[in-house]
Amino acid sequence: MKIRNINIQIEEFESRETLDKIEVELLEKAQEAIKGSYAPYSEFRVGVAVLLDNGEIIQGSNQENAAYPSGLCAERVAIFHAKSKYPHLKVKSIAITAASDNFVTKSPITPCGACRQVIAETESRQNDKIRIIMKGQKGIVQAVNGIENLLPLMFKEEQLKKSKKK
Ligand code: THU
Repeated sequence: MKIRNINIQIEEFESRETLDKIEVELLEKAQEAIKGSYAPYSEFRVGVAVLLDNGEIIQGSNQENAAYPSGLCAERVAIFHAKSKYPHLKVKSIAITAASDNFVTKSPITPCGACRQVIAETESRQNDKIRIIMKGQKGIVQAVNGIENLLPLMFKEEQLKKSKKK
């Protein structure tokens, strides 16, 4: 038996002044997208902004349903919208934030497991990493370059390929 350690890298920004201009804009667009959230059940409103490689920004927000699993997270709403509108454009980065009706979010909002898997597929499709920028209503901003930092040992398309039987 051997132990393998996996190194992941998370950038932390104490104030938005140290972020790139485009990332400040992307976080503002994510904040703005919260307005479109439909979250009467969780009262937790997530806003996302996706930057495409033509410079266009696509927004998304969580859309809940009385049949809970029928709802969809903001990240998937935004990515699926972006990729259905522009299947051939790359997603460069995604900014995520959230506000609750009942408390102040003080730490960065990180994508759920299913959204991480969708970000992973989007990276494989475009053969390029996606930068993920995460923020609460208050506190630090975190960012990672590539989903491998949030989803080590991810399941990928290669694993579906049949290996020859001996
Ligand atoms: N949610 C998102 O939209 N994105 C995430 O990354 C985490 C959770 C939504 C799903 C649900 O509408 C609400 O937040 C509470 O889980």
